[in-house]
Amino acid sequence: MHTKLLKNTIEQLFANGKGILAMDESTPTIDKRFSANGIPQTVEMRRKYRELIATTAGLNESIGGAILYDETIRQQTKNGEPMASVLMNAGIIPGIKVDMGAKALAGFPNEKITEGLDGLRERLVDYRNMGARFAKWRAVITIGDGIPTKTCIDANAHALARYAALCQEAGLVPIVEPEVLMDGNHSLQRCYEVTEHALKALFEALYYFRVDLQGIILKPNMVLPGKECSDKNSIDEVAAATVKCFLSAVPAAVPAIAFLSGGQSPQQASQHLHAINKDYKDHLPWIVAFSFARAIQQPCLEAWKGKDANVEIAQKLLYHRAKLSAAARRGEYKS
Ligand code: 13P
Repeated sequence: MHTKLLKNTIEQLFANGKGILAMDESTPTIDKRFSANGIPQTVEMRRKYRELIATTAGLNESIGGAILYDETIRQQTKNGEPMASVLMNAGIIPGIKVDMGAKALAGFPNEKITEGLDGLRERLVDYRNMGARFAKWRAVITIGDGIPTKTCIDANAHALARYAALCQEAGLVPIVEPEVLMDGNHSLQRCYEVTEHALKALFEALYYFRVDLQGIILKPNMVLPGKECSDKNSIDEVAAATVKCFLSAVPAAVPAIAFLSGGQSPQQASQHLHAINKDYKDHLPWIVAFSFARAIQQPCLEAWKGKDANVEIAQKLLYHRAKLSAAARRGEYKS
């Protein structure tokens, strides 16, 4: 076991109030976001965009680690430097998304199971040799009529636990991500119940697969009403429900929770993270940080528009949103 190595990596990722930047959108996902902003969907544009992010000056003031996608970790900057070494030289630890995406769960309409376990042991060794020190696997849980089923929750928990065990064997910190989606008109209470169920199933599976909880990072959703829910909850209500849910389901041995933003606006994601830390930090056993993609990148991507002339302003916006996320992690966010 690599307990000490894993703990060191986690300490470095979250040192001095920092968090994680997710820049690991799969090709279909980043292409969708490019298309929405009129940016050509090519390998070269994806490379340029990831170079823009990785070379943003001062990003390491608030970002301890960045999650890359397979295509990106194999790419280089225009000066021929591998993307992972640009990050390392900037004091940012490279990580890697290793799941192969959420696919339809046979026999369970509208539910998904994340694939990618076959050959994972060998892929983890390759990624470690390319510089990655942590990994990510995302499970997707959808709330709807009669779903999620226990079968879907358990199948995803099982896959997350097998992935986490393989990462720890390889000396990589597993980010374990059971995402309950915001899509739908469900209430905050329904999100609470589903998130609690998913987390309890996850920690049972991690226990049975002998995963060392001190060597994982949990990347969950916050407890939120669905996007189409007519009842809007206050920032304080979201913070209180999120804290209550995680205290009931996440063991104290877990060193860090790094929330995903999940389609909240950058401001909402920061306000919620701020409220959790400001009001509860001293009573929580774990670091409560962020691993945002959209809530850090969105203004940057919109400003870039695929044009070299916009790189400077796009980098400024990225730097700014990363700073604000780190302030929220400390409970010091001012919008
Ligand atoms: P968002 O912050 O955009 O939800 O993305 C986080 C992530 O990495 C999803 O897997």
